[in-house]
Amino acid sequence: MLSGKTVLLGVTGGIAAYKVCELIRMYKRANAEVLVVCTPNALNFVTKLTLQNLSKNPVAVEEFDVKDFNPEHISYADRADIMVIAPATANTISKIAQGVCDNLLTSIACAFTKPVIIAPAMNCNMWENPVLQENLNKLHYEILEPESGYLACGYEGKGRLCALEKIFDKTVELLNFKPLNGKKIVITSGGTIEDIDPVRYISNYSSGKMGLALADVAKNLGADVTLITTKDVSRKYNVIKVKSALDMKAAVEKEFDSANCIIMAAAVADYRVKEISQQKMKKTSDDEISLTLVKNPDILKELCTRKKACPPDLLPSCPMIVGFCAESENLLENAKEKISRKGCDYLIANDISRKDIGFSSDYNEVTILDKNGGTKKLERADKRTIARRIFEEIYG
Ligand code: CTP
Repeated sequence: MLSGKTVLLGVTGGIAAYKVCELIRMYKRANAEVLVVCTPNALNFVTKLTLQNLSKNPVAVEEFDVKDFNPEHISYADRADIMVIAPATANTISKIAQGVCDNLLTSIACAFTKPVIIAPAMNCNMWENPVLQENLNKLHYEILEPESGYLACGYEGKGRLCALEKIFDKTVELLNFKPLNGKKIVITSGGTIEDIDPVRYISNYSSGKMGLALADVAKNLGADVTLITTKDVSRKYNVIKVKSALDMKAAVEKEFDSANCIIMAAAVADYRVKEISQQKMKKTSDDEISLTLVKNPDILKELCTRKKACPPDLLPSCPMIVGFCAESENLLENAKEKISRKGCDYLIANDISRKDIGFSSDYNEVTILDKNGGTKKLERADKRTIARRIFEEIYG
């Protein structure tokens, strides 16, 4: 996703420096070139060797460690497309704001004319210090404010480095790298709600978080997004709220002709109540009651059938169809059977028996199956990372 782009990562001396090791991996996974510049104090928290191994480039610290005729601060500033300072200490922020150039990192920042992201991390009292806030206001950079929580210094408050995902997404956004530009992506999410009577319903534990992550990431990557969801969601892209499987089917089918890709991340109820009672059902003297359920249409399968019926010359304009598959046992075996039964282009399989991933968790671990029999496992990560990796896989 960041092929051909060079990220200059400035690391300063705060405990959150260890976290940026993972940020480097995220940039590398997205095919970016990563140049790391550290302040001397940063190396008290993370080693040069670690940063070097992860970035696959020498790590620069000393200002006058010049190997050729190029002054290093200028050559670094010229080579990179974006500078990301994470974690940014109060000291480095204030120096940059005042134009101080007393080490390689601050000198590069002074010479840097392209987008800069600053992700501060520090003690909460330092963060609230009016001098620091005044200095921050002087910088016309993208500031990703720290988050609140338990701080390494023992305090509770605002000061933790923001989520690495946020830094990564902002980098992609500022580089204006929009690989999904011009593509309309329709995503379903949440569990459908099948009414029994005016006060009761049948549903499932789906939180809608995976579908929402896919929609947010697709939007960041430049897609025209429509999210069809059973949850209350407020976003700047098109959100269509639905309730039952039949509502969802009608909403998705409307989008078929204009979509480039349809992702069925929703947990659609397989059955609905045959006759919804118009009035609240009353308790009877019987110890048991029976509800008759009828099968809901299989939306995913019907979309695939519609695509298969497309005349060959129109097939390229048909949407790519991606299904999800929630299994509590025999994940791969069931997923393989499901992709051939449903006929979709990709199937994203996840194991719902695990408590640390899947339903209602912020994390997931999935295997992507393609229609040609290929499989690719995506290791456990937060749902936005999984979403991004799914787009990397399906759009190459
Ligand atoms: N799906 C659908 N319509 C249904 C049921 C499921 O479109 N009536 C879609 C889901 O959105 C998902 C995929 O089919 O993308 C697989 O859903 P899953 O519940 O795993 O499979 P089922 O076909 O319902 O099979 P089973 O419940 O027996 O595992």
